[in-house]
Amino acid sequence: MDFKEVVKKRRSTRRYTGQPVEKEKLQRAMELALRAPSSKNTRSTRLMAVTDLKRVHELGKLRDWGSSLLEEAGAAIVVLGDEAASPMWETNAAIMATLLQLALVDEGLATCWVHVGDYLTLKDVPDSQRSEDYVKELLPEIPSDYRVLCVISIGYADYTPKPLPEYEGPERMLFVE
Ligand SMILES: Cc1cc2nc3c(=O)[nH]c(=O)nc-3n(C[C@H](O)[C@H](O)[C@H](O)COP(=O)(O)O)c2cc1C
Repeated sequence: MDFKEVVKKRRSTRRYTGQPVEKEKLQRAMELALRAPSSKNTRSTRLMAVTDLKRVHELGKLRDWGSSLLEEAGAAIVVLGDEAASPMWETNAAIMATLLQLALVDEGLATCWVHVGDYLTLKDVPDSQRSEDYVKELLPEIPSDYRVLCVISIGYADYTPKPLPEYEGPERMLFVE
């Protein structure tokens, strides 16, 4: 797909057909995303693809709001960062997550970012489990010294999202000449 087409096609997509997601597509997209730049070339980000549908769907409970779309997803990729490798681990991981979403669109897949970061599983219960701990308990394969930035929910879209407008207003794009 043409680069401009990929960028324009990407929308956060939260409903999927249930069609299984091919591992080769995930692998190709991850290989591209791993080319993302990182602060001082620390390469602090790792990606973990989850195709075990039971666990993909359980990831939907990582928060009590804004994550249940994972209960329908065909796959997920967990975006991890090595805090010890770079104080910019979150920024590095966010850049890679964005590139990953675009690479997945290029494979014909639909995605949505589900944030983990410092969220709690129950937003109104301050002593509830941290979302990151929930994800790590569900996926003991995650190295213990890695942090979890987000989970990218993946599937085949069961609707065609509206394309994004070109841009909302001139104030978001400035030229100083
Ligand atoms: C840092 C970040 C965190 C996000 N977290 C969530 C989330 O937890 N759940 C969700 O459904 N969407 C989440 N989104 C998706 C946004 O809601 C979405 O990008 C925004 O509404 C714009 O829509 P678009 O992606 O279709 O352009 C997140 C996006 C970003 C960039």
